Amino acid sequence: MTLPKVELHLHLEGAAPPAFIRGLAQEKRIDISGIFAADGSYAYTDFWHFLKVYEAATSVLTSPEDYHRLTLAVLEESAKSGVVYCETFLSPDFCGGRDLSAWREYLHAIEEAGTQAERTMGVTLRGIVTPIRHFGPEKAKQVALCAAETAGRFVVGFGLAGDEKVGKPGDFAWSFDMAREAGLRLTCHAGEWLGPDSIRDALRDLRVERIGHGVRAIEDLALVDELAENGVVLEVCPGSNIALGIYPGWRKHPIGELHRRGVKVTVSTDDPPFFHTTMAREYDRLAEAFDWDEGVFREIARTSLDAAFCDPDTRARIAPLLEPDHA
Ligand code: ADE
Ligand code: ZN
Repeated sequence: MTLPKVELHLHLEGAAPPAFIRGLAQEKRIDISGIFAADGSYAYTDFWHFLKVYEAATSVLTSPEDYHRLTLAVLEESAKSGVVYCETFLSPDFCGGRDLSAWREYLHAIEEAGTQAERTMGVTLRGIVTPIRHFGPEKAKQVALCAAETAGRFVVGFGLAGDEKVGKPGDFAWSFDMAREAGLRLTCHAGEWLGPDSIRDALRDLRVERIGHGVRAIEDLALVDELAENGVVLEVCPGSNIALGIYPGWRKHPIGELHRRGVKVTVSTDDPPFFHTTMAREYDRLAEAFDWDEGVFREIARTSLDAAFCDPDTRARIAPLLEPDHA
């Protein structure tokens, strides 16, 4: 579908085209051939194996220049799908090993690629700094310091990714408090691998305004009503959930029901090449599965932009691009 799109949930390394990662591995003579299938795509068996493959792929990204190239490659795909504004998760764990001065260099390279892509491809990029949950709360504190020191026009948010079954959101409260005090807006992966209580925990203990995934709220209709009443935004990634086996198919995905019940749902790809998806494909499959027309998708794009963590001037510049009369 060619409608203008806003994407709020995209892991930068997870969006790396496999050919790009393979090329870098060859240049650097790093053997990660085991993470690819015969057809060249990423190969993994389940979510936990996916996390390992993800980290192996990331191991070839060893310099700011690599991240500059990666960012351009990722945004090229976004632009092809009609994305005009995108927020991406950035992990100092992978970009310089949580060292602040290295992180500044990686961030500078990513931001510069974003500026270039805005000029040449018409897609605006902002960053959400994200510790990895299974690396533990102590490492997350170092990540939070990196985030707080670089908060501003480009780094607009703070999140939490990784294995949802390790620890509790509350273990990361110190980091989220630091990020909030630095003016960052907050989101957290929850309700993907664990049920409704994981969403309640993230909302209560981290005071986040968006939830990454959050789809398993559907198992508790009182929570669904609460999300709708409080305007909590879900960063829903249906293709990811289906590829990872959380739901058996598009028609069985709860996004339709969550939307019908008034929850603010948005649509993203998570780690698109891993899940053989793109933003255009997500829209096409959703249109087929739920009979959603152009009006629904335009409403979702507006909801997404309203929930974006960018400054008001950036939002005001993007808003007209989402409207039908835009040239
Ligand atoms: N990191 C990359 N993709 C993720 C996902 N879907 N959930 C948690 N952590 C991730
Ligand atoms: Zn994610």
